[in-house]
Amino acid sequence: MNEQIKNAQEKFAELLTEQFARIEKMKAEKDFIDYEKLDKIIIGVVGGDGIGPAITSQAQRILEFILADKVASGKVEFRVIDGCTIENRAAAGKAIPDDVMAEIKKCHVILKGPTTTPRAGDPWPNIESANVAMRKALDLFANVRPVKVPEEGIDWTFYRENTEGAYAVGSKGVNVNDDLAIDFTVTTQEGSERIARAAFEYAKKTGKTRVTAVTKANIVKTTDGKFLKICQEVAKDYPGIELDDWYIDIMTAKLVDPKRRTQFQVLVLPNLYGDILTDEAAEFQGGVGTAGSANIGKKYAMFEAIHGSAPRMVKEGRDKYADPCSIIRAGVMLLEHIGFVDEAKRLERALDICMYEEKKLQITGRDTGCTCAEFADYVMSKLS
Ligand code: IPM
Ligand code: MG
Repeated sequence: MNEQIKNAQEKFAELLTEQFARIEKMKAEKDFIDYEKLDKIIIGVVGGDGIGPAITSQAQRILEFILADKVASGKVEFRVIDGCTIENRAAAGKAIPDDVMAEIKKCHVILKGPTTTPRAGDPWPNIESANVAMRKALDLFANVRPVKVPEEGIDWTFYRENTEGAYAVGSKGVNVNDDLAIDFTVTTQEGSERIARAAFEYAKKTGKTRVTAVTKANIVKTTDGKFLKICQEVAKDYPGIELDDWYIDIMTAKLVDPKRRTQFQVLVLPNLYGDILTDEAAEFQGGVGTAGSANIGKKYAMFEAIHGSAPRMVKEGRDKYADPCSIIRAGVMLLEHIGFVDEAKRLERALDICMYEEKKLQITGRDTGCTCAEFADYVMSKLS
């Protein structure tokens, strides 16, 4: 028993050392990259697994169309990065193979399709999720997920902390012995402050009047307690924006309360609660397939579909009928993030027409509906 405790203590010490190194890095990186100052913005396109390449290539086609003059003038370059597939990741025994990561790091922003995360019973080794690995490696600390249902008065923007919480050392828990397994959740001063500030800055920029912190600080007192306390401190710098705080359990209930839910505007929350609540939220808008997701760091940013890789569709030869809406939404967020606000608005408008208003083409995931290429053409035909 003593030996087992000693081993666990050693592993714990390693984790602490890693986290302190991370904190130093966070402290060193203060400013956000300024895309306007770059001669060229490089957009990496990582197709991923399953239906990923089929839908991501269509989103790329739309972005290339809308940015045609910028590509021609050399202000923007698209780079397709292959190799972030489950086969390659399994062979390399890594969440993201080194050569793929090196290519990714040469880009400024990434448009990323879904990547398969192995789980028990799969034929793959139990490697870490490529999503999570990319978020950590590029320090993409803010996972921004907007959800809108105008006719219901829903207009939410989630700021999910993306590098800490239960995910920080999620693949490095300790099986102390057969009787005892321990995972860790991490909250840092620096990490909480930057996500809280990002949420408040967004609220300020967009004229929102309320930021809602969601935790379980009454029970998870140390880490969630710290997260909430930092949100309260950051709020003092933003007069005119109210901070309210909710516990995650009642928040999942209040999202289904039509009277209450319209009051939420910007929500800031630790990683795991953000993971769960954003799936619930996206459901009101038509499901995770309709939502886009931005992963923002100070140096890099990555934009992704929030659904899975649907390997069954590929097996059945249906990937060309996959729904590209989520990755196109991610494309809207990418355009806005790199400063092409007009282009982003035009694409968002065209997508809304195709998805919610005119609905001339239906995506069914099979040959009863249109292909993702046809849908992309449809969206492009609606660009004003
Ligand atoms: C998400 C997904 C990921 C997460 C998975 C695929 C690792 O659910 O982006 O919300 O848990 O963050
Ligand atoms: Mg999720």
